[in-house]
Amino acid sequence: MYETVQILHSYWAYLVLLILTLATFNALIKLLGKKEFKNNDLRISLFAVIVSHVQLLIGLVLYFVSPLGLESIKTNGMGGLTSFARQVAVEHPFVGILGVILITIGFSKHKKKLTAAKKFKTITIYYFIAWLLILSRIPWSTWFD
Ligand code: HEM
Repeated sequence: MYETVQILHSYWAYLVLLILTLATFNALIKLLGKKEFKNNDLRISLFAVIVSHVQLLIGLVLYFVSPLGLESIKTNGMGGLTSFARQVAVEHPFVGILGVILITIGFSKHKKKLTAAKKFKTITIYYFIAWLLILSRIPWSTWFD
């Protein structure tokens, strides 16, 4: 169970980062280029919401089955975690959830905007912050181990 969920979370992460990067920079480039908001812009932004939500669900399951998740806090106590253990068990999940919330808010807010510029601006701001946060707390060393 643990290994399957861990592998799923690990590979799904490529898709999340790829789609989130594309959606973020698509919005930024089109904002700067004063482009129209087309169907493909909606699709890529929505796709980022969907893949990140799936990652959130897999991550939540992983949190309860991984020795590096809740188990590590139970065993060592909050104060006994090394900085790496704290990153994986506390910072990464917390910031991951925050990132997904920002993506969801950004997507829902852009729908209420009436001009293309405002839509692209909303997506750029929310997705870019989520992108930075998520990237800043990925346990890179275990990912590529
Ligand atoms: C939303 C974006 C997220 C991305 C892109 C992401 C990505 C990753 C990556 C690349 C790893 C390293 C995988 C490996 O070592 O093979 C990882 C590990 C982990 N993630 Fe996430 N994650 C996200 C959200 C979450 C959330 C929301 C939670 C929990 C609530 C979570 C819980 C975990 C746990 C517990 C591990 C350690 C797994 C282990 O090696 O045992 N992740 N994540």
